[in-house]
Order: sequence, then structure tokens, then C-alpha cells
Amino acid sequence: MILFVNACVREQSRTKRLADSLLSILQGPAEEVRLREIVFPAVDEAFLQRRERLIGEGKFDDPLFRYARQFSEASQIVIAAPYWDLSFPAALKQYLEQVSVPGITFTYTQDGLPKGLCAAERLFYVTTAGGLYVPEAYGFGYVEALCRDLFGIRQAELIRAAGLDLDGADAENILRESIREIIEHHGRR
Ligand SMILES: Cc1cc2nc3c(=O)[nH]c(=O)nc-3n(C[C@H](O)[C@H](O)[C@H](O)COP(=O)(O)O)c2cc1C
Repeated sequence: MILFVNACVREQSRTKRLADSLLSILQGPAEEVRLREIVFPAVDEAFLQRRERLIGEGKFDDPLFRYARQFSEASQIVIAAPYWDLSFPAALKQYLEQVSVPGITFTYTQDGLPKGLCAAERLFYVTTAGGLYVPEAYGFGYVEALCRDLFGIRQAELIRAAGLDLDGADAENILRESIREIIEHHGRR
């Protein structure tokens, strides 16, 4: 199962367009998690205590862990998130907090090091940016490190289009070029 984590916000999202073209050439059915439709619970002390109790009792089938279970079982993961404030929309961080569950997506070795429990070997991170100053560190870089070092997903690939909102930019053309590259690189897998 391909998991599509859709962190796009706008109805006419360009990021979603790129993700759709990637999804159309990856093989297999995709399950979509549409973050803008989810009201995540506040991660306050009561939430953490409840979560810890469920983990301690081994109740991993609790609905609280549904996103973590789905993420852990996916064979490939596509995350689509617009480039916001050098990073991504907060809903994606909220989602990652729900997904990051010891005993489901990762565990610790006896030496205290994290060990991933996720089935996916590959993750795609799709983004679009208005400008051309697009450092990777706080968006893709963070997600890549989290998924590799904690969840054990070894391969992460960035797909992006930038400069879409610059004065005089031909956004349509930039997007078309990105879609062409996606098809060229992934079309024959
Ligand atoms: C809240 C917000 C924050 C943004 N921050 C940045 C930014 O830091 N750098 C940048 O280049 N563009 C920024 N943009 C522009 C978006 O990255 C750009 O319009 C992107 O293509 C939006 O993706 P979408 O079409 O999928 O919604 C921001 C846009 C919004 C709405």
C-alpha cells in the first residue's frame, strides 16, 4: 500500500498536482490521509499519559494509534507539503507527532539507540515554493532525518518546484517541467 500524506492546503494546490503525477506512475493503490480535514488532539499532558498507558499495556490496536499503524505498514510513502516559512504547514508536524510511537514506528535497542519498525524502504517528499531561497534543512531535511534515523526508512527523495510566485514567473511552465522530470525519473519503475 502506498501512503499519500497530503499536507496541501489550497484547493488549487500546485504541490498536490506534482504529487498526483508521481502517484499516477507509482505502482499500486494509494491510501490518502488528508491532513486539512483532520482535527488532531492537543498533545498535552493528559494525552501523553493516556498514550503512555496504552503503550505500556500493549494496546497498539487503539484508534489513537491508527495513523502510526498505517504509516508503519505502508510499502511506500508520498508526503506532499507546500513550502511554508522555510518549512511545511504545522499540520504535518502534528501528524508526525501522532505517527511517532515507540512500539509501532520505532523502538530502542538495548544500547538506547532508535531502531526503525516501518516497512517502507522509500519516501518521496513533494513540495513547491514561491521563491528561490529554499534551504532543505527545516522541511525535507527534517522529514528525511526523522524517517531515516527513527523510523528506519532508508531512502528519501525530494521532488520540488520553486520560484512559482516570483514576478513574471511562468508557474505553469515550471510545473510542467517538474512533471516531465517526475515522469522521466520514475515512469519506468
Ligand atoms: C503561509 C505561507 C508561507 C509561505 N512561506 C514561504 C517561504 O518561506 N518561502 C517561499 O519561497 N515561499 C513561501 N510561500 C509560498 C508557497 O511556498 C508557494 O505559493 C507554494 O507553491 C504553495 O504551494 P501550493 O500551491 O501547493 O499551495 C508561503 C506561502 C504561504 C501561504
